[in-house]
Amino acid sequence: ARLAVLASGGGSNLQALIDAHARGDLACPVSLVISNKASTGALERARRHGIPAHHVGRRTAPDPDGRIVELLAEHDIDVVVLAGWLKLVDARMLEAFPDRVVNIHPGPLPRFGGKGMYGHHVHAAVLAAGASHSGPTVHLVNARYDEGPILAHVEVPVVDGDTPETLAERVLRAEHQLFWRVIQDHFGS
Ligand code: GRF
Repeated sequence: ARLAVLASGGGSNLQALIDAHARGDLACPVSLVISNKASTGALERARRHGIPAHHVGRRTAPDPDGRIVELLAEHDIDVVVLAGWLKLVDARMLEAFPDRVVNIHPGPLPRFGGKGMYGHHVHAAVLAAGASHSGPTVHLVNARYDEGPILAHVEVPVVDGDTPETLAERVLRAEHQLFWRVIQDHFGS
């Protein structure tokens, strides 16, 4: 399966997928990267690896979501991977890729998910709740934030003295181990 990665941030999860494919652990190549920001680590990483990389936003297209669906078709994409993509996914994309849009969330779902629960906010909420564990969750995407069927979750301990930053780092390392395995299991053949 050919992957498109939609990423608005630093792209460390994108990098982990590129690396897993290069090692031969992940059969699926990253064949397209799209960011809704003009200059991001994700686009730079893609270009460095010779992967088509597009910035698609309101400044570049009258209908950005429509343009994204077009690009996915043009590049013959089979599976859409959200890796640090903070926007709701357009209904047209979900129709074009039924059960083939996957997201990684940096905390346990459904408890620490939903609108406004992203990045730093997730880790702060986990610490405020006094939870003993956090950890990334990979799920299929539907029209509501963080609500599609869960494919996998791994636990990451919360340790004494954790701040949202230290917890985020530990969870991110677990994301890099988890995401390619789940994609390989579900879409790798
Ligand atoms: C990750 O923590 C991911 O779970 C969240 O956004 C972050 C993206 O990090 N959705 P990166 O851009 O992959 O480094």
